Amino acid sequence: MQYHIVINNLSKSYQSKGAAQIALSNVTLNIPQGEIFCIMGSSGSGKSTLLKILGGIEKPTSGTVYINGSNMADYGQQDYDLYRQMTVGYVFQDFNLLEGLTLKENIILPLTLQKLSETEIQRKYADILQCVDIGYCENNYPEQSSGGEQQRAAICRAIIKAPKLILADEPTGSLDNVNAKAILSTFMNIKERMHTTIILVTHGLRWRSVCFGRGYGRSGRAPGGYGAAVFRYGCSVSCPA
Ligand SMILES: Nc1ncnc2c1ncn2[C@@H]1O[C@H](COP(=O)(O)OP(=O)(O)O)[C@@H](O)[C@H]1O
Ligand SMILES: [Mg+2]
Repeated sequence: MQYHIVINNLSKSYQSKGAAQIALSNVTLNIPQGEIFCIMGSSGSGKSTLLKILGGIEKPTSGTVYINGSNMADYGQQDYDLYRQMTVGYVFQDFNLLEGLTLKENIILPLTLQKLSETEIQRKYADILQCVDIGYCENNYPEQSSGGEQQRAAICRAIIKAPKLILADEPTGSLDNVNAKAILSTFMNIKERMHTTIILVTHGLRWRSVCFGRGYGRSGRAPGGYGAAVFRYGCSVSCPA
C-alpha cells in the first residue's frame, strides 16, 4: 500500500504565557492516497493543529511527516511555498477570506497567483459554479456575506486549483443541511475524479459514512466501531472497521 501521508510520533506544543501548551502528543497515522479521511474529536484535542502541520502552516515540535515519501523536515522555504501553493487546498476553520476582495476574487486568487491565463481562470471558475451554489453572491465582499456563503467560498478557493491534497477544517460547520450535503457530494466527486486525498476535521456524523478507508492509526480505542484513536481527549480518527 502506497500511503500519501505517513505521520510518526508527531507532537506539538505551543508556548503560551510562558507555559508549554501540548496540542498534539505522539500521533502516528498512515493516510492512503485518494481517500476521504475523517478526524473527529472534541474541541481543543489538536485537530486544527494537525491540519496546520500537514498544510505546512505550523511546524511540529517533534516527530516526522512524510508527504509522498519526502520528509517535510527537509523542505526549505521555497519547497514550503510551492507545497502550499500547488499541492494543498486548505479550508480554514475561520475561512481566512481576504476582506478587500469579493467572494469570486477570493476563489480565483490561487489561480491568479499561479499566473494562469484569464480564459483558463474563467473556465475553472465556471466548473466550480457547477458544483457549488455561490454564483448568486459572487460579487459580495466577505463582510456582506453570511457564514455559510463565506464557508462555501473558502471551499471553492481550496478546490479550484485541483490540489492533490485537500485539508478541510470543519468545512460544513456553518452550512445548512442542503448545502452541507452538496459539499459532501462535491468532495466525493473530487475524490472519485481526481484521486485526491481529502482530510476532514468534522463533528458531523454523516461524514463517517463516506470514509471507505480502513483503519490506519496505531493502537487504541475504537469508538463506535471506528478506527484508532491517537489524540488527546479521545479525539478519534474515523474509518469504518
Ligand atoms: N497558536 C496557539 N498558541 C497557543 N496555544 C494554542 C495555539 N493554537 C492552539 N493552541 C492550543 O492547542 C490545543 C489544540 O488546539 P486546536 O488544534 O485548535 O484544537 P481543535 O482544533 O481540536 O479544537 C488547545 O489547547 C489550544 O488552546
Ligand atoms: Mg479546530
